[in-house]
Amino acid sequence: MNLISSLGERMKGGFHGLRAKQILLTLLIFASVLLLIWAWDRNAFLTSFLPLQIQLLRPSPDILLGAPVVTSIPFEPDVNAKKYLSTVASNRKVVSEQKEKPSDVVMPTVPSEGTTPKTENPDKTISSNDRKKVIGSPEKEMLHEENLGSETKPGIEKKVSDTGATSAFAPLVSEKKENDSSIMAAEKKKACNYAKGKWIEDSRRPLYSGFGCKQWLSEMWACRLTQRTDFSYETFRWVPHGCQIPDFDGSSFLRRMQDKTIAFIGDSLGRQQFQSLMCMVTGGVERPDVLDVGREYGLVKARGAIRPDGWAYRFPSTNTTILYYWSASLCDLEPINITIPTTDWAMHLDRPPAFLRRYLHMFDVLVLNTGHHWNRGKINANRWVMYVGGIRNTDRRLAEITKAKNLTVYSIVKWLDSELPKYPKLKAFFRTISPRHFFNGDWNTGGSCDNTTPLAGGKEVTRDDSSDPLASGAVKGTKVKLLDITAISQLRDEAHMSRYSIRGTPGTQDCLHWCLPGVPDTWNEILAAQL
Ligand SMILES: *[C@@H]1O[C@H](CO)[C@@H](O)[C@H](O)[C@H]1NC(C)=O
Ligand SMILES: *[C@@H]1O[C@H](CO)[C@@H](O)[C@H](O)[C@H]1NC(C)=O
Ligand SMILES: *[C@@H]1O[C@H](CO)[C@@H](O)[C@H](O)[C@H]1NC(C)=O
Ligand SMILES: *[C@@H]1O[C@H](CO)[C@@H](O)[C@H](O)[C@H]1NC(C)=O
Repeated sequence: MNLISSLGERMKGGFHGLRAKQILLTLLIFASVLLLIWAWDRNAFLTSFLPLQIQLLRPSPDILLGAPVVTSIPFEPDVNAKKYLSTVASNRKVVSEQKEKPSDVVMPTVPSEGTTPKTENPDKTISSNDRKKVIGSPEKEMLHEENLGSETKPGIEKKVSDTGATSAFAPLVSEKKENDSSIMAAEKKKACNYAKGKWIEDSRRPLYSGFGCKQWLSEMWACRLTQRTDFSYETFRWVPHGCQIPDFDGSSFLRRMQDKTIAFIGDSLGRQQFQSLMCMVTGGVERPDVLDVGREYGLVKARGAIRPDGWAYRFPSTNTTILYYWSASLCDLEPINITIPTTDWAMHLDRPPAFLRRYLHMFDVLVLNTGHHWNRGKINANRWVMYVGGIRNTDRRLAEITKAKNLTVYSIVKWLDSELPKYPKLKAFFRTISPRHFFNGDWNTGGSCDNTTPLAGGKEVTRDDSSDPLASGAVKGTKVKLLDITAISQLRDEAHMSRYSIRGTPGTQDCLHWCLPGVPDTWNEILAAQL
């Protein structure tokens, strides 16, 4: 029965004693129901404005992956929550910017003081569109981290993501993220010395077959194609103390190197490292899809030349380019008189190779090396004439090979370091010298490396400093990183070409170059770990 109509009926009926009591009782019940409803309503109304309940403060991982809409501010951020927080913060900034100048914005982690009333709980004002962004962006960020590793600074990442964060805000976000796990991992990387550790045997080595990789591996370095019968040198893996080298996987490496160019510039040992990386990335399997893009870098065989000055290949699936440029001395070489076919060459000790100056802006990873061409014999044979400051060198002390080499290595590192601010994405490495193992003579005086027992001289590197003081001294205090492989490779005297060659001709031994697969693969594993 309807309460109102019954009430009206009774009132029509007159004010008898009994009826009046009934009316009073009904009114009382009615009033208390009203009170209850009001209280309930008030409570719910308050809830939406009250400070948030504790259980709402920490977004669950689901939220970070884009599940429910939450408009709360995480006050006890853990690592995940911080990512979330910075995204929320960026949206808050967008909101508050409507009322404030960017310079007035305080750190977004603490509720703003002395700002517009809206900032008291600015999330209230985020439109549904913004909310979508709040939820969508952490996922996007993870994607970026996955793809780029620590390659891109969070601040830069922000600029390309669509959180609505303006670039003016990006520095704030990156400041906030200073404690982020990725930054902490990057710091760990820095602290870790990959050159200290030990060689261990691992059935998962080598990373490609020495019978394969014919597409990139020069026959002269494929020991499997020679008369050599011991291949135990192929099965070792380098394990640094206190830091991880993730298992190398070609396709995930390519994904990390999406749209990037990796350049090796140096002598034939640099070329070995380049071939090694090509084989590692492909697993030694034929890849008809890989493009020869040498022409883009002017790497074409000149008329009458035995080979071009380098090679460049691109993996179309990830748009990753890997190239090598031959520069044995790492300094600029200029014909002194171009009209003479047998001209001398000005070897500009203090000037980087023209190729490097020209293409540096296109590189994301650069690995330099030099070393074994710094001897009087090779310099004379190449008709190199030392120049400093653009003029022929007359300084006798500088004419000493070690001094000249020192000047070149310091000069190129200094120049590179001065260029790096222009290319914040570029990671530049100077690879330390690859050790030679000529015993009982030198390369041209019957020196040999006949040992086939791996690690006969020990398997561990315990020293903290580099075994290449020239390279480590040159990069010290610069942003150029050291790819320190000298001591590691020193332990591997059994892994050179030795007496073997594709033609099987006896004679001089090669105790300088390495069999591939082999030691340069480890250099690349260490390189990949530092990217
Ligand atoms: C990072 O976190 C540590 C403790 O985990 C703290 O001591 C330090 O102040 C934080 N640094 C920044 C920049 O927030
Ligand atoms: C490949 O990467 C380069 C940057 O290294 C970029 O400029 C170019 O647009 C990319 N190409 C494609 C097809 O994505
Ligand atoms: C280069 O060599 C040619 C032929 O010997 C000579 O005629 C010319 O003067 C030389 N040029 C220079 C700049 O030395
Ligand atoms: C190498 O060059 C640097 C920079 O000019 C200098 O400080 C250092 O003493 C040189 N080292 C040697 C062995 O000449």
